[in-house]
Amino acid sequence: MQATAMIQILVSLVLQLLVLKGGADYIPPSRLEGFVYQPRPFDWDDTVLIEAFYDPVCPDSRDSWPPLKKAIHHYGHRVQLVVHLLPLPYHDNAYVASRALHIVNRLNSSATFPLLEWFFKHQEKFYNAPTKNLSRASIVEKIVNSAAKVAGSSYHTAIKNGFNDTQSDYQTRVSFKYSTSRGVYGTPFFYVNGFLLPDTGSAVDYNAWRKVIDPLVGAKSVKNEESLHYFL
Ligand SMILES: *[C@@H]1O[C@H](CO)[C@@H](O)[C@H](O)[C@H]1NC(C)=O
Ligand SMILES: *[C@@H]1O[C@H](CO)[C@@H](O)[C@H](O)[C@H]1NC(C)=O
Ligand SMILES: *[C@@H]1O[C@H](CO)[C@@H](O)[C@H](O)[C@H]1NC(C)=O
Repeated sequence: MQATAMIQILVSLVLQLLVLKGGADYIPPSRLEGFVYQPRPFDWDDTVLIEAFYDPVCPDSRDSWPPLKKAIHHYGHRVQLVVHLLPLPYHDNAYVASRALHIVNRLNSSATFPLLEWFFKHQEKFYNAPTKNLSRASIVEKIVNSAAKVAGSSYHTAIKNGFNDTQSDYQTRVSFKYSTSRGVYGTPFFYVNGFLLPDTGSAVDYNAWRKVIDPLVGAKSVKNEESLHYFL
């Protein structure tokens, strides 16, 4: 009889594990994580990949964006930027802001980066202290109204519904899990061609980006092997 009870407990444990595992089946996700900035044809031999890990309500992320954007524009098709979100747990509104970006990206992907810039510009409104007495619902409402101004007013209802939709929650969780799985624990972090750029955590200025990217772009334009050895 005790054995039967044990078996019952074991079976129920296994079932619970299966259910839990089922809940986590969104890893790996069905597409690569991240918002691609002005997508261009990706050439494995020629494209420098920069990954920026941002929190939309983080001041250091905000400060690092203009010089990075300027550098990306300078290199044109040679550099591809992908932004990953890491909503930091100590920024109270980072998760809803990140979720808004996923919602808008799905509805009107041209508005993703404009909305990220909107958050950077207005992020003070969403810091912990000024939102201390506000309800979650009122913060979401504010974000929905602003996101609709950026993405197009025709999307207002769709953006609002997006916050009541498991898919946007799921995508934001995937962002979080992706960033943490890459060892990212603060923002901004930058990876260049898959390697962590040292000295992150503070804004990298335009000249610093030029110093990082110039040699990579230069090395790639050298096609003959002899010169390649020189660079290696
Ligand atoms: C929050 O509410 C407390 C208590 O009513 C008040 O003292 C404080 O000034 C409020 N803070 C903000 C940022 O509104
Ligand atoms: C999508 O967003 C872009 C950028 O904000 C905007 O220019 C465009 O009008 C939007 N599209 C629609 C259909 O509203
Ligand atoms: C959110 O979705 C649930 C189920 O899909 C629905 O019952 C509920 O009314 C929705 N809430 C809002 C505020 O739209």
